[in-house]
Amino acid sequence: MLDIVILAAGKGTRMRSVKPKVLHPLAGKALVAHVLDKAYQLDSDNINVIVGHGAEQVSEALEDGKIRFIEQREQLGTGHAVQQTLEHLRDEATVLILYGDVPLIETETLRRLLFLVSEDSMALLTVELEDPTGYGRIVRNSADQVCAIVEQKDANTEQLAIKEINTGVMAVKGKKLKQWLPQLSNNNAQGEYYLTDIIAMATEDDVHVKTAHPTNAMEVMGINDHSQQAELERYYQCALANKLMAQGLTLVDPQRFDCRGELSAGSDCLIDVNCVFEGQVHLGDHVNIGPNCVIRSSTIGDHTTIEANSLVEDSAVAGRCTIGPFARLRPGSQLANGAKVGNFVEIKQAIIGEGSKVNHLSYVGDAELGAQVNIGAGTITCNYDGANKHKTEIDDGVFVGSNTALVAPVRLGKDATVAAGSTITRNVGDNQLALTRVKQTELSGWKRPEKQTKK
Ligand code: UD1
Ligand code: CA
Repeated sequence: MLDIVILAAGKGTRMRSVKPKVLHPLAGKALVAHVLDKAYQLDSDNINVIVGHGAEQVSEALEDGKIRFIEQREQLGTGHAVQQTLEHLRDEATVLILYGDVPLIETETLRRLLFLVSEDSMALLTVELEDPTGYGRIVRNSADQVCAIVEQKDANTEQLAIKEINTGVMAVKGKKLKQWLPQLSNNNAQGEYYLTDIIAMATEDDVHVKTAHPTNAMEVMGINDHSQQAELERYYQCALANKLMAQGLTLVDPQRFDCRGELSAGSDCLIDVNCVFEGQVHLGDHVNIGPNCVIRSSTIGDHTTIEANSLVEDSAVAGRCTIGPFARLRPGSQLANGAKVGNFVEIKQAIIGEGSKVNHLSYVGDAELGAQVNIGAGTITCNYDGANKHKTEIDDGVFVGSNTALVAPVRLGKDATVAAGSTITRNVGDNQLALTRVKQTELSGWKRPEKQTKK
């Protein structure tokens, strides 16, 4: 039985932000949401988040019906924070304490830690740091058993030299917490109720304090300012890049790769520099993505190429398509096999049929295009009348000449042709030619005006 407590009440003064610290993002997701993800993986049915600064904002951002928010009105220390949850903790449960600003903790590490907890033992996650400044130091007795944690501000010279530090993450039986927490005092350098003081109490009560360690020290790094935020962001991105490369993805420069969601890729895909992936993105096999692209919540089919500076959002792109450079697929775009969307083209809520081309400077919105359609440069679907959106339907084989306005609702029949420069307001039948432009006139002997010279 596992109860989880996540401390997230702190202000985060050094972020210099009106936003509560734990809501600042790492890989596009709030710091504390990363911690919650880990908590969910541990299968606890009792997850408690201690909120304080920006309590409402934090609970609003995280509310999913599966967690309990507990407000700590004044931040009187980590021990005081956990005290607020006592009535919700079960005696027989193992209580795991996590920090909302330590986002990269690994579930495996937590499992190793939890494994150490029993009726007469508790577990502490510690790590040795070259520079332990600022952290609580782990004090061990002559038998090498942990017997106390001393905070930086309370430590003597000898203790300050200790390199093993408290990560803050610990696990202990609920019954013990209920016994020890009410005994905490704030008689220390910071005038706070330290959670860490329970270690000495455990030793006093013959509860064995066992330690586990993270696989990587970055797992337990907390974020206090934007520079640490950026450092952890890069670490996270590099780790993800390495993982994807190990699975076969080519990243032209893993230092210039950002995934703020989940990216999966088939075989032999290549991603050029400065691309950002958000939400769930899936690339098929042999997908090529040029530099500076943003792909959000989309699937891209086999052998499709997305050229530089394109943005694809909530779209489904089939195989052997070409997109960009400088293309924008807005939500609801569906490209069938072999479709082409070229430069400065915007597609929204539209189906582009097999082999169809919208190659230059066009807007295609709320439309359904069949197969082998050719949309000339500068074609606009006029889908919005100022109040409502209307649909444009274009059948197989249609050819739309350049600089055409298709005023929706309108339908172009199979193999219809629209002459360049037309404004189409009525349906066009199969195989018909539609043209609306004014007939061309030539005037002979026309003289251009001459520049007047001042006398
Ligand atoms: C704490 C530990 C220290 C450890 C370090 C690791 C104590 C007394 N010290 O120190 O041993 O090395 O973390 O980073 O526990 N919080 C609340 N309510 C409060 C106080 C804090 O929710 O009243 C939250 C903060 O938002 C933060 C976490 O608890 O997420 C840690 O608090 P912080 O004040 O940063 O602890 P440290 O002094 O760094
Ligand atoms: Ca503190």
